[in-house]
Amino acid sequence: MSHTEVVITPADGVGAYISGFDLANAGKTNNVSVLREALGEYGVLFFRDQDLTEEQHIGLAEAFGNININRFFPAVDGHPKIAAVRKEPSQSTNIGSVWHTDHSYDEVPAMGSILVSRITPQRGGDTVFSNMFLAYEHLSDGLKETLSQLNAVHSSRHVFGAMAEGAELFTNAEAATQDSVHPMVIAHPISGRKALYVNPQFTIGIKGWHSAESKPLLDMLYQHSIRPEFTHRFKWHQGSIAFWDNRATWHCALNDYPTETRLMHRITVEGEALHPAHA
Ligand code: SIN
Repeated sequence: MSHTEVVITPADGVGAYISGFDLANAGKTNNVSVLREALGEYGVLFFRDQDLTEEQHIGLAEAFGNININRFFPAVDGHPKIAAVRKEPSQSTNIGSVWHTDHSYDEVPAMGSILVSRITPQRGGDTVFSNMFLAYEHLSDGLKETLSQLNAVHSSRHVFGAMAEGAELFTNAEAATQDSVHPMVIAHPISGRKALYVNPQFTIGIKGWHSAESKPLLDMLYQHSIRPEFTHRFKWHQGSIAFWDNRATWHCALNDYPTETRLMHRITVEGEALHPAHA
């Protein structure tokens, strides 16, 4: 299928719905540039009625770069490159319920993740995405100027380490040693558009600032960044896929299906070093 048939329908808040793209063969036909550009512009791409095997899911991810095997997520049986994001009725906590962007604790954060629904609850279990381009653009010129000079510290320890709340959902707690420093405003690696790059789950402070100084500013940015007009709530069905760019979005997995099972397969694609955007 040629990419001239691809239809891109922008969503409210963040992202775009994509149809007419043969995801199952993306790894073979190699015509993914249209999706890469759309990621740089919209931040997250939503697909319906796909029927990808695990091998096709891997092929799709590899068309965008090397796969980054998440060291903290349990793998799908027989497929070490695919992380299982599972919640059973017996579990009260789920993975990803705090707003975040994946892997910001890494020195070179992952480019994006491709999430495929395998078991969806009858009701609930949506994922909400937020737009970090819009979050940045709606700040005042004065604050943009200040943020453009600042770096933030990100960490994995308090989320995936042995002492972390919910640590039983993850593996390799002893590997949760990464801290990294990234600009608070980045130039998006694909589009060059400026994006706010801090997140409530993994950012632990502003470099060189006391906690009492950085916490109020970060809290303000976090509240600002989830304004309804910057967000889109994606409802999962059998065959739904979301492909998000970690440098342009946050996401939050709702935990509102206490009696049901939800199973998603996630593959994360390697990214590149992030560079500051100047106001
Ligand atoms: C994640 O945070 O990567 C999982 C998102 C989800 O399960 O909806």
